[in-house]
Amino acid sequence: MNRRTIITGIGHFVPPRVVTNFDLEKLMNTSDEWIRQRSGIVERRHVEPGVGTSDLAYEASRVAIRSAGIEKSEIDLIIAATLSPDHYFPGIGVQVQAKLGLAPIGAIDIRNQCSGFIYALSVADQYVRTGAHKKILLVAAEVQSTNLDYSDSGRDMAVLFGDGAAALILEPHDQNDGRGILSTHLFADGRHASDLWLEKPSCLDKPCVTEELARTKKFFPYMDGKNVFKNASEKMPEAVRIALQHNGLKVEDVSLLIPHQANDRITQMVAHNLKIPLEKVIRNIHKYGNTTAASIPIALAESIQEGRVKAGDIIVLTAFGSGYTWASAVLRW
Ligand code: UT7
Repeated sequence: MNRRTIITGIGHFVPPRVVTNFDLEKLMNTSDEWIRQRSGIVERRHVEPGVGTSDLAYEASRVAIRSAGIEKSEIDLIIAATLSPDHYFPGIGVQVQAKLGLAPIGAIDIRNQCSGFIYALSVADQYVRTGAHKKILLVAAEVQSTNLDYSDSGRDMAVLFGDGAAALILEPHDQNDGRGILSTHLFADGRHASDLWLEKPSCLDKPCVTEELARTKKFFPYMDGKNVFKNASEKMPEAVRIALQHNGLKVEDVSLLIPHQANDRITQMVAHNLKIPLEKVIRNIHKYGNTTAASIPIALAESIQEGRVKAGDIIVLTAFGSGYTWASAVLRW
């Protein structure tokens, strides 16, 4: 079968409020110098109160639909990736669907955190290649700023994460010009779930929400930064090598590498490990921080906007995050 999945539309949306490292210095014992040196982040976006993940997802979806030049009524499936849904349940897939007025098409929620976008892309790719769906809206969005600890005890996490969204329209492509998603590879190791998680509220506790919980601060995300850093630096290059080998490609064939934007030091280590020159690596963490599931599609959308993507380019995506989950994807543009 020659059918492949191609991206026919893409768009991103970030909330307008810019929060600089200097703004965070006023809230906690941190410094612009520490944040820049340790992560490469200069600023990130935070939503205004009352704006939810599904709102950002909706805005990004509208841009993607416009860019694909389709009517929204042509969309036949929504796939939404986030770790920060507006509510514990249902997920944002149905909220995006309702905001777009697209009932009763299916809406799938993907919960694979930083790898959420590539996991979602993999799911979409299967549906498109089998012919089950013809115009899928894939949206990845996060609002993380509303559940971070802005006191000294939360400074390791609060400075890293930001809010944002991006969306794609995915369609079948039957021509033999080599374009489309060439492969996706998904990995996970649940033995490390507690290295990066939001532990509470948990259904293991009855009742799951107590006054004691508010004192423990366990409802804020926790990360064993060093362990995550080490594994991210190793697993992303590994996933890229597997993907290249699968497609009979060499590192020199890669036109653009778009790693999940978790920390610019991790990005540089991934590039160094793979021997891919930094000119071919997309790095925008300085503007947005870590936007988890949204980071790769925001970077892809910006790369296209900036004219960095040319017809025939081999684009490699890779992610690592909570779970642990990690993944890679190869596209020919
Ligand atoms: O997207 C999911 C995947 N996420 C990631 O891949 C992130 C992985 N981890 C990291 O990016 C890094 O581990 C961090 C940026 C989180 C931390 O960098 P680090 O070089 O590993 O720093 P550290 O944890 O060793 O901390 C060094 C020091 C500590 O002080 P002491 O114990 O040496 O006195 C921290 O308390 O820096 C301190 N520190 C801070 N200082 C100023 C931690 N956070 C801050 C802060 N401002 N915001």
